[in-house]
Amino acid sequence: MTAHASPPADRPLPDAALLAELGAIAEDLARQAGALVREGRPRRVDVAATKTSPIDVVTAMDLASESLLRRLLAERRPGDGILGEEEGLDRGGSGVTWVIDPIDGTVNYLYGIPAYAVSVAAVVGPPRPTEWTVVAGCVHSVADGRTWTATLGGGAYEDGRRVRVNPPAPLAESLLATGFGYTTERRRAQARVLVDVLPRVRDIRRIGSAAIDLCLVASGEVDLFYERGLQAWDQAAGTLVAAEAGATVVGLRGAPPSEAMTVAGPEPTVRELVALLEELRADTDDVAAGGAEGHPSG
Ligand code: IPD
Repeated sequence: MTAHASPPADRPLPDAALLAELGAIAEDLARQAGALVREGRPRRVDVAATKTSPIDVVTAMDLASESLLRRLLAERRPGDGILGEEEGLDRGGSGVTWVIDPIDGTVNYLYGIPAYAVSVAAVVGPPRPTEWTVVAGCVHSVADGRTWTATLGGGAYEDGRRVRVNPPAPLAESLLATGFGYTTERRRAQARVLVDVLPRVRDIRRIGSAAIDLCLVASGEVDLFYERGLQAWDQAAGTLVAAEAGATVVGLRGAPPSEAMTVAGPEPTVRELVALLEELRADTDDVAAGGAEGHPSG
């Protein structure tokens, strides 16, 4: 099984000094945007706009946080590209692109549920998720300040302390985090898949921030994670943190993690979950697709 997307042999990776610089910038920026999000949260947060559906919301703080991140990146790394949730892609010329989520877990932020994060990742290669390599990342959980960092090949850390995924357990004894998209069609399909997954695991958690979910896999606070429909900014930093903590991070049918599907956790358990999700055709939005009658724990 492939691990987290590995770089093509012909692509030069940043040297140690540049990796350290990108890692330090990712953390500094995530913390600065986190301070803005935390200190600027009004008692009552309003929806500023909606995106893919009426429940896919943007707050004024999503916009302010992304503006701050873009301004700081323009000062610190003016030649780099930026792909952000709210303002899209600005191409750069350096080969490095920053993939930023100004608030991952916006619905939690809206309601004051303390599980939302600023996610900042540096990637090299073409600014396309299936082709780039994530080389540095930081997920800063705004409400409690927990901060996960990773650089490619350098391990994963929570508040400076090295983290590792849990030892593999059978799927039936694994705590599984997942999430749902914002469109009715996608949610119907995700609910169909969940009907067959829930009876086969210890329990399910829907925390509401995919970036935090992936870091909880890294810290061993959940065993596994899967979700269909994640955008690059939701998962770039978190997948690196999870992979550097020893997780296998993959899509289905041999693909790397992508919008179609992201699965993360200890390798043997991921293999078990991937087999189930493939059987359920969890990488489609077809409500009538697949069943898991033949699956061992079914
Ligand atoms: C969302 C969160 C959520 C996941 C959704 C994402 P946003 O990101 O990560 O946990 O289930 O798929 O869209 O919209 O809060 O940045």
